[in-house]
Amino acid sequence: MSAKIIDGKAFAANVRGKVADHVAHLKEVNGITPGLAVVLVGEDPASQVYVRNKGKQTVEVGMNSIEHKLDASTSEADLLALIDQLNNDPEVHGILCQLPVPDHIDADKVLAAISPAKDVDGFHISNVGLLGTGQKAMVPCTPLGCLMMLREEHGSLSGLNAVVVGRSNIVGKPMAQLLLRDSATVTIAHSRTKDIEEVCRRADILVAAVGRPEMITGDWVKPGATVIDVGINRIPNGEKTKLVGDVHFDSAVEVAGAITPVPGGVGPMTIACLLANTVTACCRAHG
Ligand code: GUN
Repeated sequence: MSAKIIDGKAFAANVRGKVADHVAHLKEVNGITPGLAVVLVGEDPASQVYVRNKGKQTVEVGMNSIEHKLDASTSEADLLALIDQLNNDPEVHGILCQLPVPDHIDADKVLAAISPAKDVDGFHISNVGLLGTGQKAMVPCTPLGCLMMLREEHGSLSGLNAVVVGRSNIVGKPMAQLLLRDSATVTIAHSRTKDIEEVCRRADILVAAVGRPEMITGDWVKPGATVIDVGINRIPNGEKTKLVGDVHFDSAVEVAGAITPVPGGVGPMTIACLLANTVTACCRAHG
């Protein structure tokens, strides 16, 4: 039997609708317009697309979008000075510096410079620590989007076996923390994991975030499991290319109970959660 396909596009539209309602309320009742500042250094084509989409969707939900596009040769000191200025700007409630930054800039230094209260990416070490200790944190957008879809699918995640494949700071580790916070039994698998197929086959919830095209095939999936595919990989397809996830969709869909497609699964949820985080930051800033 074929799995239910989780429609991330529709889910994200729903989240954006709720964000727009919240923004309208903040404007009408409190006279506040949430503002999101996005900083892009250089001309990485994929980053340019992401930043354009973020700006467009920010405006669509009624928030202010503040874009700073800096030359690839911008010095680290100038970037840090801009972040300082944004940290001190009361109109700016969320700050995101698009990664990757050029090699001459230390990304960790940049992330550490963003005020934790405005860190809508949830990458600042304070937010990482707050999340890890179960306190009120800004939560990274992609794992937050995955969690929302999993809660919708399962209701409670308590006691379920969750396997996260991938241990990145951006997805794998925070995803594991969020699942743990919801009382799932969590395993992080990675490139050195022994018998990784067997580990994955025990998962009621399987989150793939490794960046390896179609690595996880249907025979790694427990029948009826929920599969969340975070991967976005471009592979050759005849003369052209196509987008695929970290999961081999055609085989996994035959075994899973529910699965996210690529594209149209996790991807749209990331920006929706960024907008939601910006509203959260704005509400916290105004008590
Ligand atoms: N580059 C790729 N994904 C992300 C993200 O979620 N946040 C930022 N800041 N940069 C990224």
